[in-house]
Amino acid sequence: MTNKPNKTELFKAVGAHLREPKGEMGHNVAAKMNQTNRAMTEVAYDKLNPRPGFKMLEIGFGNGRLLPYLLDRVLPEGKLLGVDISRDMVLEADTFLQKAGYGGNYHLSQSSSTALPAKDGELDGVVAVNAVYFWQEPSQHLCEISRILKPEGRLVISVRGIAYMTALPFGKEGFVLREDQEYRDMLDQSGFEIMGEYKFVDEQLGEIKVDKPAEVIVFSARKQ
Ligand SMILES: C[S@@+](CC[C@H](N)C(=O)[O-])C[C@H]1O[C@@H](n2cnc3c(N)ncnc32)[C@H](O)[C@@H]1O
Repeated sequence: MTNKPNKTELFKAVGAHLREPKGEMGHNVAAKMNQTNRAMTEVAYDKLNPRPGFKMLEIGFGNGRLLPYLLDRVLPEGKLLGVDISRDMVLEADTFLQKAGYGGNYHLSQSSSTALPAKDGELDGVVAVNAVYFWQEPSQHLCEISRILKPEGRLVISVRGIAYMTALPFGKEGFVLREDQEYRDMLDQSGFEIMGEYKFVDEQLGEIKVDKPAEVIVFSARKQ
């Protein structure tokens, strides 16, 4: 007898670890995400328009391996805050950034994007890559983001397109997959003006190939 999970169980578990990576499997899923989500993360950071001295926040940074691409662009005077609901991801990202010599330039918290660790109007930009699928009530998150942004502060949301996400075999419990227009509407209804939308076809998720192009959409918005 073997305890090896069957494919259905395995995909269900992967979906759960995408939502909140935990333990050894969460560590492995997060490591994989660094490869597959690098391009969509780098484009999102570019669209944030980070400059030295800016104070930024990332929602759902996973294991934090890509955070230096943003941190390096706001240093030496700037600062990076981050929130992730996964305690294991906060610990792993923190250990990585400390070892990489960024101590003092960042602060990571185990928290949800409904309760952000910043004062009203404090931040220049907020970015969320592959994190918005888990917002059941987007207005709660967007209202909190708006609170901490300066007037005209930037919000960048990077997601994979609904056709590709739907075709992925992962369990999608807790995911809310949205059409492009639903993203536009939720931003508009929460007082964000869309400055640009950028679409490209990214690599497929590792070994898992589906018959839909791996489209990415990056929404760049400004607090009105
Ligand atoms: C699919 S992973 C994406 C990780 C990374 N941004 C990437 O694209 O590779 C989603 C991450 O968001 C975190 N997360 C989910 N819901 C969240 C919320 N409401 N607030 C903060 N983090 C959240 C998860 O714990 C996880 O680390």
